Amino acid sequence: MAKVAAIVLAAGKGTRMKSELVKVMHPLSGMPMISWPVNVAREAGAAVITLVVGHQSEKVREFFADQGDIVFASQEEQLGTGHAVACCSEALSGFTGTILILCGDVPLITPETLQTFLDYHQRQLAAVTVLTTCMDNPYGYGRVIKDAAGHVTEIVEEKDASAEQRQINEINSGIYCVDAGFLFTAVADLKNDNAQKEYYLTDIIKTAVAERRTCCAFPIADPMEVMGVNDRVQLAEAGRIIRVRINKALMVAGTTIIDPEATYIDHGVVVGRDTTIYPNVCISGDTVIGDNCVIESSAVIKGCKVGDCVTIKAGSVMEDSVIGNTVAIGPMAHLRSGTELGDEVKIGNFVETKKIVMGAGSKASHLTYLGDATIGSHVNIGCGTITCNYDGVKKHRTVIEDDVFVGSDVQFVAPVTIGRNSLVAAGTTVTADVPPDSLAIARAPQVNKEGWTLRKK
Ligand code: UD1
Ligand code: CA
Repeated sequence: MAKVAAIVLAAGKGTRMKSELVKVMHPLSGMPMISWPVNVAREAGAAVITLVVGHQSEKVREFFADQGDIVFASQEEQLGTGHAVACCSEALSGFTGTILILCGDVPLITPETLQTFLDYHQRQLAAVTVLTTCMDNPYGYGRVIKDAAGHVTEIVEEKDASAEQRQINEINSGIYCVDAGFLFTAVADLKNDNAQKEYYLTDIIKTAVAERRTCCAFPIADPMEVMGVNDRVQLAEAGRIIRVRINKALMVAGTTIIDPEATYIDHGVVVGRDTTIYPNVCISGDTVIGDNCVIESSAVIKGCKVGDCVTIKAGSVMEDSVIGNTVAIGPMAHLRSGTELGDEVKIGNFVETKKIVMGAGSKASHLTYLGDATIGSHVNIGCGTITCNYDGVKKHRTVIEDDVFVGSDVQFVAPVTIGRNSLVAAGTTVTADVPPDSLAIARAPQVNKEGWTLRKK
């Protein structure tokens, strides 16, 4: 097969988004919108991908900075789609083969469709092939005009179309395969004598027809795949479609998702078999979840590695943490960055953790803050325990060795170390290290003043 290079048009601002952020950088399932067509072009075999950037080009350049197959072409003024492609002639000079043209705001096209589209174009030996679809309401799109043999003779924009042409419901998706040699000579000669005073890429069809080159249409059945995102209503709709696709792939691979329309799993997240996910769960970042887990409603999980047989109860929030097997978390626990939990750990309701390591079988069942701590295995942390890790200037570590029992309402004024197999009595404020096998108790002796309230009244 001939070589393929891609161009992704992304210089426009996206005025209808009513946003400070350029349209193509708005996130869709964890990636900027433009990443979707870029990834699809890559999967379809494009060896080099040229992004036409203009508005907030620095944001787009920064995002793709470490992707070696991406090159940039700047379009300072947005003079039309034809002008945008002409801006790539330097970046792609010397390239011979097929150029696949995509739009940064058409994110739902699939790799399978693009692959068959490319194959079709190359089999037809066409100069230009346009990906088209039929729409019930084609308003706003370029209409595809064909001759009796079914070859494309022209694409007419809504604003330039006659009443009769507006009746045509086969539309231009804005996705094309074009022979590289033809493309750059054709776009160099475009005129802007049309209703929008723009250099229309679609006018290369007229050039091709005049030069007796073949122009084909490749119609696809599902208009949804070429839906453009112009405003936030369409952004949400595209998000819904991607969400359903991601969740379907997970279900096919063995994950139970109770309500796939109401489960928010980003691109790239891995979930194991026989794991059940309840509605309203959000899983993002570089997250991997094992087999046989249960994730209850409203859990928010970002950048976590979670083992097998883990229960994450309702309302728990976790980020950048590593969780062993058979762990129970929540409801309403907050695992902040750098939490590492061993197997069979239990973190109960209203427990917050940050930068801690907790060994196998240890428990903090209720209402506790554990930060900057190393906790051994089989440690019991009583309700209301606090690691006082911050002295106002610096953070300090608490070390609690294996088999320690911490009673309720204990404060550890770090830095402090509790030796293995010790017991810290309820209500103790620990300010000095505790040797192994000891009892640590620090509370004022209790005084009962009998009859006191009667005398007061
Ligand atoms: C274009 C097509 C229309 C098609 C529709 C499909 C033309 C003349 N018309 O119309 O036939 O039905 O797409 O969605 O091509 N862009 C630039 N630089 C520019 C202009 C546009 O980079 O100077 C980018 C935009 O950021 C966007 C894409 O090109 O990603 C499409 O541009 P847009 O102005 O939205 O094209 P339409 O008018 O919708
Ligand atoms: Ca336009």
